[in-house]
Amino acid sequence: MSLNPVEHSVLDAIAARWSPYRFEPRIVEPEKLIQCFEAARWAASSYNEQPWSFLLAQRENDDSFKRMLACLMEANQVWAQNAGVLVLTVINTRFKRGGKPNRVALHDLGQAAAHFALQATALGLQVHQMGGVNLSKIRHEYEIPQGYEPQTALALGYPDQSEPSGESAVELKQRESGPRARLPVREMVFSDKWGDSANFGAP
Ligand SMILES: Cc1cc2nc3c(=O)[nH]c(=O)nc-3n(C[C@H](O)[C@H](O)[C@H](O)COP(=O)(O)O)c2cc1C
Repeated sequence: MSLNPVEHSVLDAIAARWSPYRFEPRIVEPEKLIQCFEAARWAASSYNEQPWSFLLAQRENDDSFKRMLACLMEANQVWAQNAGVLVLTVINTRFKRGGKPNRVALHDLGQAAAHFALQATALGLQVHQMGGVNLSKIRHEYEIPQGYEPQTALALGYPDQSEPSGESAVELKQRESGPRARLPVREMVFSDKWGDSANFGAP
């Protein structure tokens, strides 16, 4: 995969991050995996609550890996089965002190997930995040207590850069090879009022 066609220079890992549909079916070295979680750990969060938790399944532990794979939507299982690592994400919906609802817990989880993904990219790995998970199954399988909500899954591994063989691999290759497109900055940064593009001080 070539670098993302960024319009302004960014950190190397941001330019190189993407979501593969084809992973090499190989394990991820534990020291690299821990580095990804260390990066997630250092994400900012409201009141430093760190409302995120993660459930981990590594390819080398076959039963554990298959159990987590079964918690993904079937369409995601098709390709995530080759990842080296699967992770389920969970938020604490309330502040630890006071017990009031934490309105920004999901924001904080997203930030931790982004740290995780960018660290992975910097290590030669990639992450494919998923909203397509079976939430009630996750809650049941992993005995998630009240007040905690499962959210997403992450597939981590080495992207398979080989030529695809077989119909399904060719189809997955097409999915991951589509144009790398984003809205322009002017369509997401407004000033003065909603819909007025910011001009960043240009005359
Ligand atoms: C929270 C979240 C949920 C996602 N859910 C899925 C999913 O269930 N299945 C899937 O194939 N891709 C999923 N994706 C991947 C997105 O489709 C992908 O990030 C997006 O198309 C941009 O592509 P890129 O990550 O390669 O830049 C998800 C991504 C995020 C951040």
